[in-house]
Amino acid sequence: MASSSHRVWFITGSSTGFGRTLAEAVLDKGETVVLTARKPEQVEDLTAKFPNRALAVRLDVTKPEEVREAVKQAIATFGRIDVLVNNAGYGTMGAIEELSDEVVRRQFETNVFGALDVTRAVLPHLRQQRSGHILNFSSVGGFVSFPGAGIYCSTKFALEGISEALAQEVAHLGIKVTIVEPGAFRTDFNGRSLVLSDTQIADYEPVISSFRQWLQDNDGKQPGDPKKAALAMIQAVESDNPPLRLTLGADAVSAIDAKLESVKAELYAWKEVAVNTAFEGAEVGAIGG
Ligand SMILES: NC(=O)c1ccc[n+]([C@@H]2O[C@H](COP(=O)([O-])OP(=O)(O)OC[C@H]3O[C@@H](n4cnc5c(N)ncnc54)[C@H](OP(=O)(O)O)[C@@H]3O)[C@@H](O)[C@H]2O)c1
Repeated sequence: MASSSHRVWFITGSSTGFGRTLAEAVLDKGETVVLTARKPEQVEDLTAKFPNRALAVRLDVTKPEEVREAVKQAIATFGRIDVLVNNAGYGTMGAIEELSDEVVRRQFETNVFGALDVTRAVLPHLRQQRSGHILNFSSVGGFVSFPGAGIYCSTKFALEGISEALAQEVAHLGIKVTIVEPGAFRTDFNGRSLVLSDTQIADYEPVISSFRQWLQDNDGKQPGDPKKAALAMIQAVESDNPPLRLTLGADAVSAIDAKLESVKAELYAWKEVAVNTAFEGAEVGAIGG
């Protein structure tokens, strides 16, 4: 990893919310940022303020040619990337049966395949450097799934699965991976970045309407402060021993804690059934050897 004054960050979705706030915090610290956005003009105030350390690049993560071009521009301008932040994303809300295949696939294109494409475009540079840190924006919903948010949560579960394996694949190359799991933070997420299902099936209303209402009522009132989240992410990047999962917000901590407890309780309640499924006399080793 480069010394902190020379660290180069590459952030997706830096127009608003976490992406922009993190970029501002990094620039305030004297580091360098490639601010990528679908509309780069939205971050021109930052490139004007920090002309030598901020570069605005057009990037829709669902467009492979823009992914390659953005990484190329970052390397051509600053010579390296030290921290990749896969932040771009949005939420689709509705019961599983209510959402069309098209809406579901679009959600995966951004939250999963977009992040995957950017990661694969940046990794050769990190491998060559033998250093780097990838922050993948999951959510509390990447660990706990909620009725009415199953498709959004499934994209974040996918990203967690990718990140957990990736962390182990690249550790020996000096590259670190951290999954960021925020609870409710005050960004544009519950407003313009929230896609609600067009159709509503009355049978699901009793189980999902309160969650949908909560999301809408909470817009602008979320307890989480993106500036404090940005400082926590910087702290993780600066740590000699960064976490695989960086959970942010007391709401996220308590939801994940409750899930861990319930998974463990269920695992042990059904352990006898689980362990008695091998062929007679077969030796059961650890998965993966
Ligand atoms: N806020 C929360 O409570 C919360 C909680 C858990 C996880 N998260 C995660 O945090 C991340 C950032 O969201 P946020 O809360 O900061 O909301 P936000 O303020 O709405 O920001 C979302 C960002 O993603 C960008 N984006 C969306 N689709 C994109 C695409 N195809 N290509 C490039 N950029 C794209 C948006 O760009 P445009 O300006 O062009 O639309 C915007 O910059 C997301 O991954 C979200 O799932 C948020």
